[in-house]
Amino acid sequence: MANTLEQGTAAGSGRRPGTPPGDGGTGPVLEITDLVIEHRRERSREMFRAVDGVSLAIGAGETVGVVGESGSGKTTLAMAATGLGATGSGGLRLLGRDLRALRSRELRALRPEVQVVFQDPHGSLDPRQSVRSGLRELRGLQPERTSWIDDEALLEQVRLAPELLDRYPHQLSGGQAQRVCIARALVMRPRLIVADEPTSGLDVSVQADVLELLRASQRTAGASMLFISHDLAVVRSICQQVHVMFRGKVVESGPVDQVFTDPQDPYTRRLIEAMPGARWRARR
Ligand SMILES: Nc1ncnc2c1ncn2[C@@H]1O[C@H](COP(=O)(O)OP(=O)(O)OP(=O)(O)O)[C@@H](O)[C@H]1O
Ligand SMILES: [Mg+2]
Repeated sequence: MANTLEQGTAAGSGRRPGTPPGDGGTGPVLEITDLVIEHRRERSREMFRAVDGVSLAIGAGETVGVVGESGSGKTTLAMAATGLGATGSGGLRLLGRDLRALRSRELRALRPEVQVVFQDPHGSLDPRQSVRSGLRELRGLQPERTSWIDDEALLEQVRLAPELLDRYPHQLSGGQAQRVCIARALVMRPRLIVADEPTSGLDVSVQADVLELLRASQRTAGASMLFISHDLAVVRSICQQVHVMFRGKVVESGPVDQVFTDPQDPYTRRLIEAMPGARWRARR
């Protein structure tokens, strides 16, 4: 292998080439304080708070989960964290920089530091581009940042055969396509990976593998991760901290084991009860 992820400098161990100024590398990678994001209801046209006063922080190398039912505001929160979606009001700092105060040039410089892995891998890939030409386009955007690894080694990192470089998205299985999406995120050497239900669109038989791959590559790259899921069991298996969202608000936060074994909020209890095997655990 020509190059490996290990050669990327771990987050928190100093400033890497291409890291925007203003980031000493010591503070939280992402810091959200009392964030409010409003959307307009389709029918009534009224504004409502899709994210309602959420605060969370993610340290270097840390994996933080956000769990909650459909419509609770998880994706709205995640998109704000990337600077790609509505940013609303409240504190929103990425690598110590206030996302809303940045000029567009500064925001562009910061953007590669956050990479998103979405639920639907095929929807994230351009159907007209082979894996190789998609990677070439990405590398063209950030030549210096992405030159640390070649395409073959990158695919090896996500456990895909190099032959897949010449395939088009429709020639890839869901699991393979999601591995390509993870590879596209990793090539940028991000400081933060935002994974929004990254395995829930995949066949059950490959979900665990893709999750394990995501976890391993995030650790090796030294990136932090904001992991969005409606599945508390998955969050427990890969996150250190979890925030439980209900109707735009965080109703409970804490270390995963604490929230999982001693939930304080009735909604969290219901989520845990709804998990497969919950009754069995409760009986023990
Ligand atoms: N662009 C938008 N315009 C108007 N309303 C929106 C928009 N995006 C999301 N919403 C609404 O905001 C609320 C939160 O949506 P969001 O997508 O953040 O939820 P979620 O927790 O990610 O749900 P899911 O688990 O289904 O992905 C929902 O009521 C949704 O219908
Ligand atoms: Mg969502």
